Amino acid sequence: MSLSSAVRRQQQVLSHLQGEQKAAKPDPKAHIRQIAVCGAGIMGGGIAQVAALAGYSVVLWDITAKDIEQGLSAVRKSLSRAAKKQGAPDGWAQQILDRISTTTDKLEACANADLVIEAIVENLSIKQDLFDSLDGVAKPECIFATNTSSLLVADVLSKVSKERKERSVALHFFNPVVMMKLVEIAYMDGVDKTLLELLKSWVYDIGKVPVLCRDTPGFIVNRLLVPYNSEARMLVERGDATIEDVDTAMKLGAGYPMGPFELMDMTGLDTGYHIMKGWYENAPGLKGDPRFKVTPQMEEMLKDGHLGRKTGQGYYKYR
Ligand SMILES: NC(=O)c1ccc[n+]([C@@H]2O[C@H](COP(=O)([O-])OP(=O)(O)OC[C@H]3O[C@@H](n4cnc5c(N)ncnc54)[C@H](O)[C@@H]3O)[C@@H](O)[C@H]2O)c1
Repeated sequence: MSLSSAVRRQQQVLSHLQGEQKAAKPDPKAHIRQIAVCGAGIMGGGIAQVAALAGYSVVLWDITAKDIEQGLSAVRKSLSRAAKKQGAPDGWAQQILDRISTTTDKLEACANADLVIEAIVENLSIKQDLFDSLDGVAKPECIFATNTSSLLVADVLSKVSKERKERSVALHFFNPVVMMKLVEIAYMDGVDKTLLELLKSWVYDIGKVPVLCRDTPGFIVNRLLVPYNSEARMLVERGDATIEDVDTAMKLGAGYPMGPFELMDMTGLDTGYHIMKGWYENAPGLKGDPRFKVTPQMEEMLKDGHLGRKTGQGYYKYR
């Protein structure tokens, strides 16, 4: 494809999406006023920020005040960078921050929420228990959403009531949340279809673009990306090429903005580890697939706390 036809194609996709956006009928702000974000880590902080930027009132929950402060501090830095870049008026960043309240009481966080977005550690039983504890407290019309990267929505929400399941989806954001435009909406059979329309409108309202996918491991992006990362790791572990050369090859040869090792460092090696382990042990159609077998080298890196950018070392070192 020539450059000019690629640009034309991009314009076609964009105007198609803008058409979709106009056609997206339900007014999200009429249905969703308060959002609870559970987990103030890399993803939870970013989700709270984009929701607050779009004018929503957000309650951010995490286990300890320290976890929350870490998340909020990343939001503050990001807003202050954006304020400088855009020449925003004094007090703009504080106005956005004022829309985010915090608590270490998860029941309090969710009691008045219209939408709960869970972004806690990628561990099935921990996620199940969280939703189970919220089900009896949240309003009946409250929507439950998981940001899981690899688990089935049906498994994460397995302990909630039938009525709540009909109002449950995955809202899968991408890292870094503020920059990445896509949100995958993954749904189970039997989901209320008007809910999907509402969530599509909500995704557009926070400045992102939604895609729909049935509830399948990895949805669209990770289903393609995780095997790609695994092949890159196996290439290096076999001694066929170096980490640096694999990254350079994919950037210059395939036009990717970053190489697989840079990407794994950004995502967090623990997140990648949990995805592979879960798929290798349980995922329908993927169970036992050797590409997803956790390697001793990965175990070692986890044991040493080399989880990527967030700990200052992964496949690369960071200051
Ligand atoms: N990192 C990514 O690139 C990425 C991208 C898309 C989706 N996700 C998904 O988002 C979710 C969160 O990922 P993250 O990268 O923000 O993780 P993270 O490690 O940065 O944050 C996880 C947060 O969960 C909190 N938490 C709450 N209850 C917990 C409990 N019982 N045990 C342990 N931690 C608990 C932790 O305190 C922490 O703040 C995961 O499901 C992950 O798969 C991650």
